[in-house]
Amino acid sequence: MVQKQVGEKMSYNIRLCKPYLGDKQTLLSLLEEILDSGFLLQGKYVEKLEQAFAHYLGTKHAIAVSSGTAALHLSLIALGINPRDEVLVPAYTFPATANVVELVGAKPVLVDVDSETYNISVDQIESLLTPRTKGIIPVHLFGNPADMDPIMEIAKKCNLWVIEDAAGALGSTYKGKRCGTIGHLGCFSFHPRKIITTGEGGMVVTNDDELADRIRILRNHGMRISESQIDFIAAGFNYRMNELEAALGLIQMKEIERIIGERQKLGELYIDALKGIPGIAFQKTLPNCTTVWQAFVVRFRDRVSNSILRLLQKAGIEAKIGTYALHILDFYRKKYGYEPSDYPEAARLHNESLALPFYNGMGLENIIEVAHALIGVSHEDRFV
Ligand SMILES: Cc1ncc(COP(=O)(O)O)c(C=O)c1O
Repeated sequence: MVQKQVGEKMSYNIRLCKPYLGDKQTLLSLLEEILDSGFLLQGKYVEKLEQAFAHYLGTKHAIAVSSGTAALHLSLIALGINPRDEVLVPAYTFPATANVVELVGAKPVLVDVDSETYNISVDQIESLLTPRTKGIIPVHLFGNPADMDPIMEIAKKCNLWVIEDAAGALGSTYKGKRCGTIGHLGCFSFHPRKIITTGEGGMVVTNDDELADRIRILRNHGMRISESQIDFIAAGFNYRMNELEAALGLIQMKEIERIIGERQKLGELYIDALKGIPGIAFQKTLPNCTTVWQAFVVRFRDRVSNSILRLLQKAGIEAKIGTYALHILDFYRKKYGYEPSDYPEAARLHNESLALPFYNGMGLENIIEVAHALIGVSHEDRFV
């Protein structure tokens, strides 16, 4: 059982997240133009967002969809992942990463995570491969790059597909390459807590023409238009993004470098403000990599973060658990009979980590207030 998130309906002095929407006047006039045009469904603004995204990442294709989950789901179907197949996913991630594997009838095989990067433990991957393994979904958790070189090496050697779950990693880099562009497919989310937001939305990127074609068809009911003829060649979905959502994304993409630069600065300021707190640990980024801090998740070693969360809440500061150890969630625990000790690092991170307020536009005074609240809590020795 996952403990209830406390304080969901409270009012806070410092919110966990405030989505940055770009220049409001520019956005409002674009939305007005779209509303007046009457063309609300996937159209020229979705295409413009796709072009801006592909240009920024340097990929051949970017396909806008209705969520990060839809991006992952379509990727698996486009790759032909079937029931009886197995796909490796990290044991510590947002459930969508594994849920999509269940949704195509395959088995998500959990891999424990590294205690410092919070990402998939690469050295455990090979021992979990079976003749049924068809792919790996490494997650760049909270924007922090997973160790892609060894993952791609294993994938090449064993003929596996790699779908990067880059839900929160827009702009993060792994050894000079942008996250999401290293595997066969990369999936992004535009949920309000991500780097850019369209309310709900997502994107698949790839350099593979055939996969891109399949994903475009599957997102739109299985429809193929060729030489002005329409036919339905697959049982597809309606996973389209609409024009209003695309307009939001487009305005933010114009400022993407500034958005990312500000997040990186805030990350540095936060670490500086919190580093003296006893027992606190920060997510570690691999050498020659950069993170965009989709979320600022700290770990309190050997302490239960839920009690700290309540104390922050009393101080008017909104926080949340980092993310979830999948094997202790009701569905996965019951279906596969997992024990918490099966993936010990994921379980520890689930219990010990907290996402602190973090967003573009956050002031240094807010960071200092969070730091004071945490220092106060640690001095009172009420962490547990
Ligand atoms: C790692 C990860 N993968 C996938 C998703 C799913 O994205 P969405 O909420 O856009 O469906 C999320 C969303 O929070 C996520 O954090």
